[in-house]
Amino acid sequence: MRSNSRLSSLRKEIERTTHEIFSLIDKRLSLVRKVSEEKEREGISVINRDVERHLQNNVIEMCSGRNLDARFALRILNQLIQESVQVQLERNPVNSPPSVAEIFSKARRMNNAGKHILHLEVGEPDFAPPNQARRKLMKALSRGDVGYTESQGILLLRRKIADVFNQRYSRQISADEVIVTAGGRLALFLAVSSVVQAGDEVIILEPSYPAYSRFVTEVGGRPVSLSTELEDFWEPEISELEQQINPTTKAIILNSPSNPTGKVLDESVFRRIVGLANDHDIFVLSDEVYSRFTQSHYTSILEHPKCSYVCVQSFSKTYGMTGFRLGFAISNTKTINMMAKLQGLLLTSVPEFVQYSGLGALDSKDEVKHNVGVIESRSKAMNGLLKELPVSFYPPDGGFYFFPQFQNKELDSVDFAEHLLEEKGVCIVPGTIYGRRYSSFFRIALCQEKQVLIEAVRRIGEMLE
Ligand SMILES: Cc1ncc(COP(=O)(O)O)c(C=O)c1O
Repeated sequence: MRSNSRLSSLRKEIERTTHEIFSLIDKRLSLVRKVSEEKEREGISVINRDVERHLQNNVIEMCSGRNLDARFALRILNQLIQESVQVQLERNPVNSPPSVAEIFSKARRMNNAGKHILHLEVGEPDFAPPNQARRKLMKALSRGDVGYTESQGILLLRRKIADVFNQRYSRQISADEVIVTAGGRLALFLAVSSVVQAGDEVIILEPSYPAYSRFVTEVGGRPVSLSTELEDFWEPEISELEQQINPTTKAIILNSPSNPTGKVLDESVFRRIVGLANDHDIFVLSDEVYSRFTQSHYTSILEHPKCSYVCVQSFSKTYGMTGFRLGFAISNTKTINMMAKLQGLLLTSVPEFVQYSGLGALDSKDEVKHNVGVIESRSKAMNGLLKELPVSFYPPDGGFYFFPQFQNKELDSVDFAEHLLEEKGVCIVPGTIYGRRYSSFFRIALCQEKQVLIEAVRRIGEMLE
């Protein structure tokens, strides 16, 4: 009886403490709203890493004198910070990432109304899927291989993927270290969900594929962007990267060749990043979906087997198989199992016959050579065309995008994209969707015939006059 009364008094105290915590959170959020008003008045941006870092250091210091684990405390702080950012963005949507969905749907509406639009926005190559991929798919269909499979993917395809990469990188990856996913996009989400917990930070090199930060916030993590600049040839500053690392840093996302810049990270840069990841026990999520489209040496995370990594690949770009929704990832078995469980929960498995098409695609060397050649030739042409325009750009080392900057840096990329679409019938992607600071950039994809690219660049030139 006595121990029960002690238990209930402890519970009462916990209840009181919980109340205190939440009234303090309430107070904190009211202060955040006031900060937001001030920032709005002064035109100051919502995120300030220095202020965040100062708070984080305070919390680390506080923990050292108490029985509190610093990583746990920082993860809670990061969730408070993330909520504060959200509150400020809702108050002041000008700071939110712009929605380009409206531009793209306008382009579709214009198309449907019979207007001929030149589409330089979508990164969907115009290659036909390899014959072998289609044949394998059709055969699977006629055999009746139309069921669910194991969530991780059929063994035959996982073995084949392991063989291909073992040969390419002299590795001994097993089929257990491979997962077949519904596209590279899902592989990325599964990887983020498996590696990142609420309150963890993930470093993302900007400009970046927008899905990365969305995935991180979706699982309650905090994206920390490390911006790179055209003037530095999109090279990340490793000392800045190191400064961003704290005990909650769980992962860094690399994308080489990059969407949108076409930057391929040098072997030495890659090695230094992997070194930091090893020193601080950080996962490297390496998105290599454009790896076959490189004009310079490209380094894969698979050449650095000693670090914790997830390597993401896709059939979409290399083989022109976007609509098949087929991708895969390579990692340690623990992470792959977690990813497989989540994929199982979300969609049971990738359709069985689609997985068979992957077997055919991996044998299609001639088609890959052809596709790579097509993009290389368009890239050369685009290089020449853009040189004639009042833009600055980094000639891409790989991938299939150009990311030019207007010389008139006052021009906003969203306005430019809207005017270009309405007045010239050309659709491009505004730079801001790859990071706020890239509002004077735009992305064009090399996924159309050369003639289309030539005409589109001519019209872009007219707009920039
Ligand atoms: C950088 C990057 N990663 C991943 C993907 C996902 O491709 P998919 O889901 O078609 O494999 C894309 C698609 O555009 C991309 O640009």
